[in-house]
Amino acid sequence: MVAAVRVHKFGGPEVLTYEDIDVPAPGAGQIRVRQHACGVNFTDIYFRKGMYPPPGGLPFIVGSEAAGEVVAVGAGVSEFKRGDRVTYVQGPACYTQERNVPADRVIKLPDTISYEQAAGMMLKGLTTEYLVRRTFKVEKGMNVLMHAAAGGVGLILCQWANHLGANVIGTVGSKEKAELARANGCHHTILYRDEDFVARVKEITSGKLCDVVYDGVGKATFPASLDCIRPLGMFVSFGSASGQIDAFNINLLQMKGSLFATRPTLNTYAAKRADLLNMANELFAVVGSGAVKIPINHKYALRDAEKAHRDLEGRATTGSSILIP
Ligand SMILES: NC(=O)c1ccc[n+]([C@@H]2O[C@H](COP(=O)([O-])OP(=O)(O)OC[C@H]3O[C@@H](n4cnc5c(N)ncnc54)[C@H](OP(=O)(O)O)[C@@H]3O)[C@@H](O)[C@H]2O)c1
Repeated sequence: MVAAVRVHKFGGPEVLTYEDIDVPAPGAGQIRVRQHACGVNFTDIYFRKGMYPPPGGLPFIVGSEAAGEVVAVGAGVSEFKRGDRVTYVQGPACYTQERNVPADRVIKLPDTISYEQAAGMMLKGLTTEYLVRRTFKVEKGMNVLMHAAAGGVGLILCQWANHLGANVIGTVGSKEKAELARANGCHHTILYRDEDFVARVKEITSGKLCDVVYDGVGKATFPASLDCIRPLGMFVSFGSASGQIDAFNINLLQMKGSLFATRPTLNTYAAKRADLLNMANELFAVVGSGAVKIPINHKYALRDAEKAHRDLEGRATTGSSILIP
């Protein structure tokens, strides 16, 4: 038996139940990982609430990323062996001391990256990789707006976009978060709970507006985000921390300047193993060179997952949060 955090009915943080579970031997094509650190992500909250249905139904183990060591391999697995240091994004099923993972989703961890760093960066960092390199290629001199700039994805994206030479503008919920975002590559911060962020973006860009807006906040920032984008620019709606955007008339994109809009997810971008590995290598390269640092600002014991969710949902965290099994 190993300890895990499961959800038996959808709801608030209180439905996260710390309990013992059985983990069978790894099946064909699987490896068994003893986990050293698990990442906490807003996606986990969507699953806990039932907004994203868990593929196997209830009960299910929460969590979408972790890092640890291989303790057993199933039939047909040749790429990994006992003792390998690995990481992966594959959820929900990660808030547990041990689990079986499909080997084709697993990535070997470079020696320079710790288990805790990996758990704090794989989902958020691979997401950032596709957002700034694939969904929209950020280039030198571009104006980029990132909502929730001091969050987990936020701090990574601000650093990466800055590294690519963009002028990075970030919205944040407090003065402390503004300071942190600025220390992590954000050139300009906007306190979007107090200030009109569209007016501030116009002012900061001298009316040019942004080439791209990355919006993981959703309901609270839509449709105003569209007014921050230059004609033919790109609106990237990649999450809904404040609630989902309501259905809208596509003519809105015409009226706002022939805009492009997309609602991407990592699952699609990393569906092929070759893409997953290329994206991971890009992430390891920027972290390895020091261009992007992974701020792990909150560490909890696995049994305290409920508190971790309360903090993330209550806008009380910055950067990455992890659980230690
Ligand atoms: N599509 C994908 O592939 C993908 C993958 C990973 C993550 N995501 C999305 O990326 C976004 C960020 O994820 P994360 O795990 O790094 O979380 P996070 O940014 O660390 O936390 C969410 C932040 O959103 C802001 N926020 C604004 N309104 C909120 C509200 N009503 N309730 C709670 N938070 C609110 C808060 O920052 P302020 O206080 O500064 O406003 C909060 O800290 C999420 O929307 C997530 O779903 C998408």
